[in-house]
Amino acid sequence: MRVPDGYTWDVLVPWGTPLFDGVTWQEDASNTAADQARQVGFNHDGMHYFPLSERRRGRSRGLLVINHEYSDASQIYTAAQTSAITPDAPGKEKVAKALAAHGVTVVEIAELEDGSWTHVVGSRYNRRITGTTPMAFSGPVAASHPMLASSISPTPRGTLNNCANGYTPWGTYLTCEENWNGYFGSDVTTLTPSALEARYGVSRTGFGYNWHRAEPRFDLAVNRNELNHFGWVVEVDPTNPNSTPVKRTALGRIKHEGATCVEARGRVVVYTGDDENGDYLYKFVGDRKWREHRARRRSPLDHGTLYVAQFDGTGGGTWLPIVHGSGPLTTGNGWVDQADVLIRTRQAADALGATRCHRPEWVAVNERTCDVYVAFTNGSGNNAPVNSNRDPNPYGHIVSLHEAGADNTALTFTWDIFIVAGDNAYDATVPATQPAFGSPDGLWVDGDGRVWIQTDISNSSQNLASRGYNNIGNNQMLVADPNTGEIRRFLTGPRGCELTGITITPDQRTMFVNIQHPGESTTYWNNLNGGAPTTGNPTTVSTWPYHGGQRPRPATVVIRKADGGKIGS
Ligand code: FEO
Ligand code: CA
Ligand code: CA
Repeated sequence: MRVPDGYTWDVLVPWGTPLFDGVTWQEDASNTAADQARQVGFNHDGMHYFPLSERRRGRSRGLLVINHEYSDASQIYTAAQTSAITPDAPGKEKVAKALAAHGVTVVEIAELEDGSWTHVVGSRYNRRITGTTPMAFSGPVAASHPMLASSISPTPRGTLNNCANGYTPWGTYLTCEENWNGYFGSDVTTLTPSALEARYGVSRTGFGYNWHRAEPRFDLAVNRNELNHFGWVVEVDPTNPNSTPVKRTALGRIKHEGATCVEARGRVVVYTGDDENGDYLYKFVGDRKWREHRARRRSPLDHGTLYVAQFDGTGGGTWLPIVHGSGPLTTGNGWVDQADVLIRTRQAADALGATRCHRPEWVAVNERTCDVYVAFTNGSGNNAPVNSNRDPNPYGHIVSLHEAGADNTALTFTWDIFIVAGDNAYDATVPATQPAFGSPDGLWVDGDGRVWIQTDISNSSQNLASRGYNNIGNNQMLVADPNTGEIRRFLTGPRGCELTGITITPDQRTMFVNIQHPGESTTYWNNLNGGAPTTGNPTTVSTWPYHGGQRPRPATVVIRKADGGKIGS
């Protein structure tokens, strides 16, 4: 882990940190599922800092809300528990621990006299939302919809694969369900996914976790409708630990990377990428001012129109409405109603002729200029100007959108390529003066317009010459100045990790970023260090962050400037 000269970093709330009294971190990973539900989850991802009070105190006391994307079987179980779930039956306790390691953490944090930060054990705000927490549905798809009817979960339960995030002007947090498809499976060899299921990547083998052998919720042969409980944006009120998280169905059902919410003409606009090679960029536009909805006790996220982006080849584009009865989405074509359209969002966008993109990940908006930045992390096929005219495109790029009239509710836009990522030694279209980097994923625009970029090179490519990634090093965070075009590397993460999640205190003097999956199985480091990590030897790739022989732990990192100045200044 390296930060620039003049900056410091500290570890905050690593996986397993007790949030409440009565639970203790166990270095041998012997914490039970019940413990895990009272500890910080695994694989920190999107995140937001909510100040707990206005004015000065808000910069030193707040709630950190953190997504936990997935759990790693080689890291979360003891040496006595096999690391390879496949082909074993994983057992109820192991599945329960994994489910408890997913979801969201709400934790109160505070700045100490010396400028460092700590978490508050037992704060009345501390909360874990997991793969089993009861959920509400709102918007066009009600929990009572027949396609959600489940004998196993009469009340919808849980949120999974919580990737990137958003936050609303009324102080709530948005957590996004990305690769939810892979948790489901079946031992029935004749089982075949429907066209709808196949469009979301559902298969009999899934991620190979075999959770279905211990938990019928995830068994496709028992229960197909449980699938439809996932793929949504979920709203969480971080200040009310007793509130039920709400799946906001008007925002569509896809593999949501994030949900970047901005205010335009008093309405909410939510941008969301569907992270799959060849999938789409979406935005939701509220139908009236969000304050008017709130005054009527209605959610601004339940009332509006979802659109999907169509990019032309010459720098123009259109937002296509995903509305029942509009264009091809008619009853005659088999679309029952708006709920049906939203449950089948990907197929609706296919029918509309949206533009296939190279894996749209995070979206960031400069709230002064209204410019929108979208990370296209990498991809292949669908060769097109918006995909940087590179096929394959192993390094990815960042597209900027300029909404008509600098109005985020507009239905047309222009676009250009903001940054082409890569290494000039392998790709001459990448400027030689630009730092070599690849697979941009996390994006954020700070209050001064700087564009922060976090990378997620896959562990099957990281550091490898055969993938053109040997000059780039570990995953990193960069910062770009859109006015000058200058890009600089800001920090470099430890082995096997990705950088993801970024938020800052209101005074811009304390930044929080997440180190996800440090020490995960990484082809390059496995080969150098004697094999992939296992439950018996979880440290072959990394011992970050404590380096005393301890197991690696995903964590939040607190970044400050030694002189107390603004981060990035
Ligand atoms: Fe969870 Fe697409 O990153
Ligand atoms: Ca991501
Ligand atoms: Ca990614």
